[in-house]
Amino acid sequence: MENTQNISIGKRRYIGCKSKLADWIMQIIETETNNIHSFCDIFAGTAVISDLAIRKYEKVIINDFLYSNNLIYKAFYGIGKIDDKKVRKYINAYNLIDSNKLDENYFSVNYGGKFFDNQTAKKIGYIRDSIEADKDSFTEKEYCVLIASLIYSIDKISNTLGHYEAYIKKDIKPHILTLNLIDYKSCKNVEIYQEDSNQLVKKIAADVFYIDPPYNSRQYSRFYHLYENLVKWDKPILSGEAMKPAEENMSEYCSSRAAKAFDDLISHLNTRYIVVSYNNTYHSRSSSSRNKITLEEINAILSKRGKTTMFEHSHQFFNAGKTNFNNHKELLFITKVNEE
Ligand SMILES: C[S@@+](CC[C@H](N)C(=O)[O-])C[C@H]1O[C@@H](n2cnc3c(N)ncnc32)[C@H](O)[C@@H]1O
Repeated sequence: MENTQNISIGKRRYIGCKSKLADWIMQIIETETNNIHSFCDIFAGTAVISDLAIRKYEKVIINDFLYSNNLIYKAFYGIGKIDDKKVRKYINAYNLIDSNKLDENYFSVNYGGKFFDNQTAKKIGYIRDSIEADKDSFTEKEYCVLIASLIYSIDKISNTLGHYEAYIKKDIKPHILTLNLIDYKSCKNVEIYQEDSNQLVKKIAADVFYIDPPYNSRQYSRFYHLYENLVKWDKPILSGEAMKPAEENMSEYCSSRAAKAFDDLISHLNTRYIVVSYNNTYHSRSSSSRNKITLEEINAILSKRGKTTMFEHSHQFFNAGKTNFNNHKELLFITKVNEE
């Protein structure tokens, strides 16, 4: 089947993704700031906020410490040569693979019957091995686009609630995996980093910093370990029911040191405006969704840098059935930084 449909960057399940709030956030930034040339999304996640910023500002910096997110940013926005016909040809060939004819592989042995049915897992592992085997015949952009297309295509059919901390414990309906190409671009106004945010802010400057760290104990590197593994593809030994690799990129923001980390980050920002997203899960009964930084701490830390205003947006919130707030609030702080 000819492949024509291109997947956009927001078409991914990701905990804390701001896709539904992005227009609201960007509108407030637009009205509360002036003379903005550069924008930094320092905990970018899916990069849906960056995606809007790229259309508006002369320069956009995108950062996240996960390997999979970094590859996705390079795939969607990185500058580099890409032969569209060639990548479509590869994708069409991957789609014609008959999983019944494939042997078990690293991916199917570890994840088959858990996150994907076994036939689909064999196909995913086979495709990822093929991309790696042909790596020398791809440009970096083509390589990233193919792997990102694989991630976005399998995300839709994974047997999960949108993350890989656990899988759904029911018989898995067999799927036919169809890869679709992502909607890649080449953006001259984008700089991409994969660094710890607290380190990166000491080296860069931007007119606006958008800050959306994790606020509870759930580590993104553990939630999305399967994509981290698929991108790095060094095939480590995995363990536990969710088949996770050894810990890497564990965030201070998910620990009791979160407020200290936030204070350090804010104090080092070289900027004119600080924009912070925050949601009120603090009173949650489930300890893993309880916030590590309080509203009062956020406000006090931001106010050290300048006049801070808070905006509020109510929306429905649903968290894997455990915490169900009907009146969940999403907050946005904007600090107009005092001139030194
Ligand atoms: C709440 S999510 C951001 C969601 C994003 N705004 C969106 O709309 O998709 C927080 C992100 O911060 C990243 N992160 C956590 N700690 C980090 C750190 N110390 N340095 C860099 N990135 C970090 C996580 O990988 C995660 O993608």
